[in-house]
Amino acid sequence: MTLLLDQKVALITGAAAGIGEGVARLFAQEGAHVFVLDRNAAGAEAVAAAIRSQGGSAAAFACDVCRAETIQAAVDQALARFGRIDILINNAGIYPRRAFLDMTEQEWDEMQDVNLKGVFRCSKLVIPHMVERRSGKVVNISSVTFFKGMQNLSHYVAAKGGVIGFTRSVAREMGPYNVFVNCITPGAIEVETEKLVATPEQMAAIVAQQSLQRRLNPLDVARACLFLSSHLSDGITGQTLNVDGGLVMY
Ligand SMILES: NC(=O)c1ccc[n+]([C@@H]2O[C@H](COP(=O)([O-])OP(=O)(O)OC[C@H]3O[C@@H](n4cnc5c(N)ncnc54)[C@H](O)[C@@H]3O)[C@@H](O)[C@H]2O)c1
Repeated sequence: MTLLLDQKVALITGAAAGIGEGVARLFAQEGAHVFVLDRNAAGAEAVAAAIRSQGGSAAAFACDVCRAETIQAAVDQALARFGRIDILINNAGIYPRRAFLDMTEQEWDEMQDVNLKGVFRCSKLVIPHMVERRSGKVVNISSVTFFKGMQNLSHYVAAKGGVIGFTRSVAREMGPYNVFVNCITPGAIEVETEKLVATPEQMAAIVAQQSLQRRLNPLDVARACLFLSSHLSDGITGQTLNVDGGLVMY
């Protein structure tokens, strides 16, 4: 059986947990050399070690997407080892709730710094190498909340809308270089962090609004990432793909 990402070099941010971990594990199964980037160094190493123990290729890096020098170190390693980066998954993100009326400028800024400017920083460091080789796939993780709006997440939804706008504009610039930039808007994905910010009742209410009557999981998003990172999506750029069980349709 042909592996979809055989020998591809993939950098995945926020890959120590949740969706990013799911992407890292699936990409490794599909033959990629996976670079697990996360500010949670121990978590990143645990994911990379688990992948290696199953015969995959993975290396962990302590990276904060708010500190360019930490991302640069991972980029340098990937280039030194393989001479290229084929795939960048901009997934690292935070989603603490805060009512707009209580929100401080600092909370707003932190949200933009991680969820929007983090995408800018990683893209700035990786895309030039893709341009040089006239080859690359970038997938940015936004959120379906952008299409619906969501209470207590105005800072988050604004940042995630920015990610969609950034995706479209950079895709317009990168097409001539054969560098693809797409976006995924996950719906409610079952991850550990969710338990800190939402109740089971709130999540059940979202499932009730979906067409598919089940909780979505990181693998559901990872499969869409795989599609947008492989040759199967070679006619697609600048797009935003909902992975939300049919919550929003457009
Ligand atoms: N889970 C959902 O329902 C859902 C829905 C829509 C969008 N998303 C988006 O998907 C992405 C992943 O979310 P998740 O639910 O898997 O979250 P998660 O908390 O399970 O995982 C996020 C990972 O990102 C890392 N991270 C956070 N800030 C970082 C930083 N500054 N630098 C490096 N790493 C950092 C965390 O340490 C963590 O390992 C986020 O961008 C999130 O906004 C999630």
